[in-house]
Amino acid sequence: MITESSVRAQLPYTLRQVDLPALGQLYRGKVRDNYSHGDRIVMITTDRVSAFDHVLGTIPFKGELLSRLTLFWFDKVKDIAPTHLLSSPDPSVMVVKRAQALPVEIVIRGYITGSLWRDYQAGTAGAYGIDWPAGLKKDQRFEQPIITPSTKAQYGKHDVPISEAEILCQGLVESGVWREATNVAHRLFQRGQEWAASQGLILVDTKYEMGIADGKLVVIDEIHTPDSSRYWVADSYQERFAGGLEQEMLDKENIRQWLIREHGFSGQGQPPPLSDDVRVMLATKYMEVFERLTGQAFESEVGSVEARIRKNLAAAKYL
Ligand SMILES: Nc1ncnc2c1ncn2[C@@H]1O[C@H](COP(=O)(O)OP(=O)(O)OP(=O)(O)O)[C@@H](O)[C@H]1O
Ligand SMILES: [Mg+2]
Repeated sequence: MITESSVRAQLPYTLRQVDLPALGQLYRGKVRDNYSHGDRIVMITTDRVSAFDHVLGTIPFKGELLSRLTLFWFDKVKDIAPTHLLSSPDPSVMVVKRAQALPVEIVIRGYITGSLWRDYQAGTAGAYGIDWPAGLKKDQRFEQPIITPSTKAQYGKHDVPISEAEILCQGLVESGVWREATNVAHRLFQRGQEWAASQGLILVDTKYEMGIADGKLVVIDEIHTPDSSRYWVADSYQERFAGGLEQEMLDKENIRQWLIREHGFSGQGQPPPLSDDVRVMLATKYMEVFERLTGQAFESEVGSVEARIRKNLAAAKYL
């Protein structure tokens, strides 16, 4: 089993990037190193962590946790929509079919919190074209999940809120495709919330990316990970909500709050270096989500992630 001391022991072995030009053309996102060759992409989920659109450093076992959780969820939702997954030659690597990505990220929320709460409170939540009810409280559950789309920004730029009307009127997504994509998002989210609830968690909100491959809508990227979603502990939700306290969070929000609290950093200027303690703290939160969702202990090896990936890619004849 991975204990806190193994997490600490993994600190020097985390994966910042992988240079494997033999795999194809590199697109380095904030978290993934994506090598494309024809219509195939080898997506390597590194241990990088980003917050407020800055890459801050690495978190032990993060790439493996995200990639394995995405595989777990892809299997759980396979009756709802096809995904881009072709194979997974290493716990941190997914080989996927390249899709024409929709230029819009489908954010779906079951609760009002985070940036939406801040915008709602400031009276600036209008960009989504949604008529928000008055009198909502922070972290309150919506009667029905609500989609708040954002346009996918180029590297280094912030994503921008957009309304459904604008998406259709600017022709960013064709209306039939948009209808199908939002329908799929609602069904994925419902499945995700139900499973999370059965494991004592609340899937608060999440972000889907979808694309078209072979003329069909497919779910791409990652799903229901603690990077792309918020997770709260279900047991303590009601009491904390009623008392106006912060929820017990098991997602990336932990590092955002550390940055704000310890360094007053919320995206402007140079990000501060991450302390080893905060790197270990985030790793243990992500491990807890993994273990709760899958119902299994997280097992992995302390050691070089890069060496393991190279070995597994070679064994699967990708190198
Ligand atoms: N099947 C797919 N076909 C095409 N693009 C994909 C597919 N799956 C994921 N992607 C894209 O690959 C990239 C994954 O890398 P990563 O998650 O690190 O990027 P990001 O930092 O979230 O986004 P950005 O592109 O803004 O840097 C994303 O740009 C994502 O949209
Ligand atoms: Mg991403």
